[in-house]
Order: sequence, then structure tokens, then C-alpha cells
Amino acid sequence: MDDGGIYEAPRQVEDVGDCHFYHVMDLPGFGVVGGEWDLRGREHAYLGGEPLRGRRVLELGTASGALCRFMDEQGAEVVGFDLSPEHSWDMVPFAKFDVDALIASSREHIRRLNNAWWLVHRLFNLRARLVHGTAHHIPAEIGPVDVSTACAILLHLRDPFGALANAARLTRETMIVADVHPEQPEGAGLGSAVPRHARSPIPGAVYLLPNPVCEDPAGAFAWWSLPPEAIGQFLGVLGFEDQSVTDSFQIFQGKPTRMYTVVGRRTRPLR
Ligand SMILES: C[S@@+](CC[C@H](N)C(=O)[O-])C[C@H]1O[C@@H](n2cnc3c(N)ncnc32)[C@H](O)[C@@H]1O
Repeated sequence: MDDGGIYEAPRQVEDVGDCHFYHVMDLPGFGVVGGEWDLRGREHAYLGGEPLRGRRVLELGTASGALCRFMDEQGAEVVGFDLSPEHSWDMVPFAKFDVDALIASSREHIRRLNNAWWLVHRLFNLRARLVHGTAHHIPAEIGPVDVSTACAILLHLRDPFGALANAARLTRETMIVADVHPEQPEGAGLGSAVPRHARSPIPGAVYLLPNPVCEDPAGAFAWWSLPPEAIGQFLGVLGFEDQSVTDSFQIFQGKPTRMYTVVGRRTRPLR
């Protein structure tokens, strides 16, 4: 299949100072970088324990590439997918915040995140390829993949179910979705950032995070608290009815945060 020129040409990034590491990573020659999310040693659990060797994987929201590196080193052929500075973050249109300024700052953030991905790519000699775009328009030219992953991305999307449906159109076998669990133990890393109204007491209930009482512009970057029940329900709708649900604790800013992972295996043919 003609790839339509969708893959980014490799970029030679030298300056670690011009990178943003969303993931804590230990880089050869640079040491430990990044401070938001530390998945080290728990990547396999975060991906629901799914075997990856020899499988083609579409990774939505590859960010600075820690999971991409893990999957690549497991023997997967990874297509990383993420925004570039040309694409807008799905910003919540809060009237009380300067949303244009937030979008401008997010473009700069994404530029540095993309740089981090390329630095990781070079330092670990990854085979993975990178496609830029938005999860709302995943190019068909990527072609079929065995596995698609959507880890900690859906909460940021205005239409998370549309994005999952887009990924499903390319996915032959398995969809892996991980996200922040709505129910967090006391003192959890991200737990305090999830507004109380969104800490779901009702299993399966989807909560809208934006709230006009929010005083923090960072609130404009996230839309949903999505429980595993809702993800499982929708993966079933998409034809991935054979499912497992697991938890893992990942470290956010030094504190454990409860994440869930839904693995859905295709039970209806890909049309
Ligand atoms: C919270 S990070 C998750 C990173 C990684 N998947 C993980 O679980 O550690 C979300 C990623 O999704 C990307 N993203 C946000 N909105 C997107 C969109 N509309 N289309 C594609 N990627 C998006 C962000 O740029 C970022 O890299």
C-alpha cells in the first residue's frame, strides 16, 4: 500500500534542553530526565500484559516515547502517533481563560515533546516510525495494525469514542486502552487533581471534568473521567468483545496513581 508520505523523516535532536520529557527516562549519556510520569519497570502491566513480539502496533499519543521504546524493544513494529505543533490540542473552551494563549503554549509544548521522541529514538536506536496527526483523523495510509494502544490520551479528547472507532478501523486483533482510574486511594498522585464531582461512585458512569468553578487553566486540557466499564462497553460495540481489565499503579510526580487497562480482542471481523 502507498504510504502517502505520512511518516516523518527522522530528525537529529541533540539538545536535551529543547525537549520535554513527559516520561521519566534514563537516557544514555544524559542520565535520568523527566518528572511527570514514571512507568519504568511497569510498562508490561500498563499495557495489560499483552504480548507484542512480531506485532504491528499503532500507539496513539506516543508523547516522549517511553512506551514506544518498551514496545520496540519487545520486538513490536511500532507506529507512534501524536500531534505536531501544526495541530491543536482539543482545548476545553473555558470562557474564563485565554484559550488562544493556552493553545499557543500547547504548540510549543508539543514541539518539545516531539523533540524528546526523536532523541529517544536515536539514543535507543528504535525501529519505530512516527506519524503526526490528530486522533480524530487517523490516516488510512498507516494500513492495518495488529494492536492499537490508547494510553492516557482519551481523557484529553473531546470525542474519545470517535477516536477509538478511528483506531478500530485499522486494528486487526487487539485494542489496549489505559487511563486514570476514577477511584483513587487517599494520597494518590493524580487523585487530588481529579475533581471530587468526577470521582465516580457509580461504576460505569462517564464524568465530564470541565467545571465553571475551576480556577486552574490546566483544567482546559482534560475532558473526561472514563471508567473501565465505559471503555469495555464501547470496545464491545466496536467488535472487541473478548476483554480483560487490570489495574497498575504508575508513578505521577513521585506518587503512585491507580491506572486501569482494558484489553479488547477482536470478535467481529474487520470490514
Ligand atoms: C497524557 S500523554 C500520554 C502519553 C503515553 N501514551 C502514556 O500513556 O504514557 C497524552 C498524549 O496524547 C497526545 N494527544 C493529545 N491530544 C491528541 C490528539 N487529539 N491526537 C493525537 N494525540 C493527542 C499528547 O500530545 C500526548 O503526547
